[in-house]
Amino acid sequence: MTHRENELIEAALKARARARAPYSQFRVGAAVLARSGRIYTGCNVENASYGLTVCAERVALFKAVSEGEREFEALAVVTDAAIPAAPCGACRQVIWELCGDIPVLLGNVAGRCETVRLAELLPRPFDSSSLNESQRDT
Ligand code: THU
Repeated sequence: MTHRENELIEAALKARARARAPYSQFRVGAAVLARSGRIYTGCNVENASYGLTVCAERVALFKAVSEGEREFEALAVVTDAAIPAAPCGACRQVIWELCGDIPVLLGNVAGRCETVRLAELLPRPFDSSSLNESQRDT
């Protein structure tokens, strides 16, 4: 792992400690490296109305976008799962929209880490190109 990748995993690990997960007890931390060089972190924030829960990955990305970031280099997610967990389907869609085919680092608290590309996690995505007027039936 590069120094920056290591830093990203460490940031996600720290963010995980701030997870609000009273219902699932499944704590997730995420960190995204912006082109600016800044790292933005997020944790899952659960709600008694379960469907309103927001995943760690989206918290990190929305924080970054709301601070003005538009380009991203890599994203890390850390859980305590023995086999490092990958982002949920909804987060894959949002990561694709905001980051494109970036490396996604999957880590766990035991120090395991593997890197996959988003296109492996989300083949044939739905995105703005799918909305292109010229390709649509009338
Ligand atoms: N969770 C995330 O934060 N990221 C994911 O990619 C998967 C799921 C959270 C949502 C919920 O708080 C808990 O993990 C259990 O699903």
